[in-house]
Amino acid sequence: MSKLHEPRDSLSAATLDLHRALSSLMEEIEAVDWYQQRVDACADDELRSILAHNRDEEIEHAVMTLEWVRRRSPRWDAMLREFLFVEGDARPDHAAGGAGERRADNSLGVAAAINAARRGQHTEED
Ligand SMILES: [Fe+2]
Repeated sequence: MSKLHEPRDSLSAATLDLHRALSSLMEEIEAVDWYQQRVDACADDELRSILAHNRDEEIEHAVMTLEWVRRRSPRWDAMLREFLFVEGDARPDHAAGGAGERRADNSLGVAAAINAARRGQHTEED
């Protein structure tokens, strides 16, 4: 497995799976970017349509992978719930009424991280 930053034998199976998922997510997003650029640059209509289809498939792959991460990480779940599908400014600017305004407990998610650790799940601190 590439790009591990700690010795493999010091990492849990769950951390290795999370690494696989996050690596895949980055690869899928990079592929979306590549296909989008090719769509813009392509002069052939049929090929441009194929490339756009491929781009959209990569978006699907990225979202499926992100959902897998969300289901296993309470912190990812909390952040996605806070910042996705909200109206107004997406920045966590309370004065602007952005997504951060929606946080009910105004916490740093420490309790969720502790509870997740007790259950053997991941948080972004893992
Ligand atoms: Fe893909």
